[in-house]
Amino acid sequence: MTLTPRIEAAMARAITIGQARVAGAPPGLASALDYAVTPGGARIRPTICLSVAMACGDDIPEMSDAAASALELIHCASLVHDDMPCFDDADLRRGKPAVHKAYGEPLALLTGDSLIVLAFEVLAREAHRDPRRSADLVVHLAQRTGMPGGICAGQGWESEEKIDLRAYHMAKTGALFMAATQMGAIAAGQDPEPWEELGARIGEAFQVADDLRDALLDTEALGKPAAQDVAHGRPSAVTELGVDGAIRRLKDILSGAIASIPSCPGEAALAQMVNKTAERLVPTQAAARAAR
Ligand code: FPP
Ligand code: MG
Repeated sequence: MTLTPRIEAAMARAITIGQARVAGAPPGLASALDYAVTPGGARIRPTICLSVAMACGDDIPEMSDAAASALELIHCASLVHDDMPCFDDADLRRGKPAVHKAYGEPLALLTGDSLIVLAFEVLAREAHRDPRRSADLVVHLAQRTGMPGGICAGQGWESEEKIDLRAYHMAKTGALFMAATQMGAIAAGQDPEPWEELGARIGEAFQVADDLRDALLDTEALGKPAAQDVAHGRPSAVTELGVDGAIRRLKDILSGAIASIPSCPGEAALAQMVNKTAERLVPTQAAARAAR
C-alpha cells in the first residue's frame, strides 16, 4: 500500500499552518516554505515513521501524521541550510534551484528556521489527543535535531579538524532515521527503545546507498550536484570499498536491519517496506551488479 497520499496530505496541512495562520505574513517567505517542501524527494523518513506506527497499531492516526510530517519538515529545513554558501554552496536541489538561489540567502535562512519551528508546533498541536505522546515526540525530535547527537551536531563535525567518523555518520544521517522508527513507535503509544537499532541500521544503509548514488549517477539523474563526496573530500563507502564492496556492505546492513525489527503485529509488512525502500534508493547500475 502506498503511503504517499497520506504523507502529502499531512505535509500540506503542516505548510498551511505555517503560511496562513496570521494575515499579513510576508508573501516571499510564505512561498519559500512551500517551495522547500514540494515536490518532495523520496519522503523516506515519513514513510518509515508511518510504517512503524502502522506496524504498532496506529491507534491515533493524527499523532502518527504529525510525527511523520514534523520529521520531514526538519529534514527539508536541514537541506535548505545545507545548500547555503556557508555549507555546501549547492545550486540545485530536487531538480530545481536551491532555495537560496530561488529566493536569496536571507529568505533561505528564514525558511529553514520557520520549518524547524513549524515542526515542533505540528507536534505540540496534537497534545489535546494525548499529552504524553505529544510531549515525548517533541523531546525526541529535539534530541535528534540539535546537540549533542542530532543533525546539527552531525553538521558541526564538518567544522572540526579531526572527524570522529562514526559519531559524524550517526548524527548527520543516522539521527533522523532513528527518529523515524522511534517517533513512529511513540506516536502509536509504544516504547521507542527497541526501535532504535532498526533506525540506526536503515540510516547506515541509506548512507551507503547515498554514496553509491553520488558516485554512479549524474547531476540530472540525481537532481542535485553529483560527485560531491570526492569534490568535498568527504568520507564515502565507495572510495573506501569500491562499488562492489559498497554494494556488499549495503546488502549486509539491510539483512541486519530486517533481522532487528522488534516483534509487533505488522512485522512482515515492515520487512517488506524496508526492502522496497532500499530498492528505490539504489541506482539501477548498482542493483544490476548486486543481482549478479
Ligand atoms: C545533507 O547532507 C545534509 C544533512 C543530512 C544535514 C544538514 C544539517 C544542517 C545543515 C544543520 C542544520 C539543521 C537544521 C535542522 C536546519 P549531504 O550534503 O551529504 O547531502 P546532499 O548531497 O543531499 O546535500
Ligand atoms: Mg549537501
